Amino acid sequence: MIRNTVHVDLPGRAYDVLIGPGLLPQAGTLIAPLLRRPQVAIITDETVAALHLSTLQASLDAAGIKHSALALPSGESTKGWPQFSRAVEWLLSEKVERSGIVIALGGGVIGDLAGFAAAVVRRGVRFVQIPTTLLAQVDSSVGGKTGINTPQGKNLVGAFYQPSLVLADIDLLSSLSTRDFLAGYGEVVKYGLLGDADFFDWLEENGPKLRDGDLAARVHAVTRSVQMKADIVMRDETEQGDRALLNLGHTFCHALENATGYSDRLLHGEGVAIGCALAFELSSRLGLCSQESPSRVRAHLRAMGMRTDIADIPGELPDAEALLALMGQDKKVLDGKLRFILNRAIGQSFVTSDVPREAVLTLLSDALRG
Ligand code: GLY
Repeated sequence: MIRNTVHVDLPGRAYDVLIGPGLLPQAGTLIAPLLRRPQVAIITDETVAALHLSTLQASLDAAGIKHSALALPSGESTKGWPQFSRAVEWLLSEKVERSGIVIALGGGVIGDLAGFAAAVVRRGVRFVQIPTTLLAQVDSSVGGKTGINTPQGKNLVGAFYQPSLVLADIDLLSSLSTRDFLAGYGEVVKYGLLGDADFFDWLEENGPKLRDGDLAARVHAVTRSVQMKADIVMRDETEQGDRALLNLGHTFCHALENATGYSDRLLHGEGVAIGCALAFELSSRLGLCSQESPSRVRAHLRAMGMRTDIADIPGELPDAEALLALMGQDKKVLDGKLRFILNRAIGQSFVTSDVPREAVLTLLSDALRG
């Protein structure tokens, strides 16, 4: 059985990310060494609970670990104060101790919310991430960003709080719809584009096979993505510098998500993919990279059957000025200036606040015309 381990070596809070098939049925055995008392509290959502909770519970039973579970409603709207306080109060009512363990079983919403709940209950109890989506496996479950949304914006309340273990079971990806899988793939491509041209070459070659279910290709893609994320997080845990590279495509993405009401019209990973294509187009227009680079990015996204351009988003969108204003609300704004992740080539991203407003406006107007 293929199983890879990425070690996130942060002083005093190091942990392993295990990547491979068949991890969920072994979760009890893998988590047992972390426990002082054989007891855990699971936070999940209703959709994931129907698919995967019984497998987790059976593995905990087999390892002699007592468990209780809270299944929150599925969807982004769960990631706010009401369900967060429900989760915190439930953990307290379950008498989770300082030495206890919370298991987050789900996608990004559950991982972020349960991680933040673990960070504040009794001033911090340990937690284990069992990410069930591709997006959560390659991005949100690793690196310790936890939090919730507020009426003022996404992820504005939270904590950097690292998990104690991440179990990325590749088998769970088979239960995703093609659309959800490809949205997560947007984040996978991002890693190649921001820092590893060889990985992007590999994705161009192996992406379709990976999409169609090839296990070894999926394990490789998740492992390489997690390794790249771990390397960046080890250099810059709290995003004072390099970690911002992980936001390639995200300034555009957040404006598009906001404009589409964080709805089914545009999934986060789809926005990331479109945002990456726009970031390369902008870099090329500013003379930072060759014209071939954005064409290659778009060609790969198209070959995967992904949304690639703003024109691929169904329904009306605001005009370029309004989109630019939405970009200004992004939390990546620093000292009032928009920060962009631009590219010198595929695999070579850098952070800059030095982008002429007019260039962004023209890019958006052109993109909106399709
Ligand atoms: N998702 C971006 C980060 O973890 O920094």
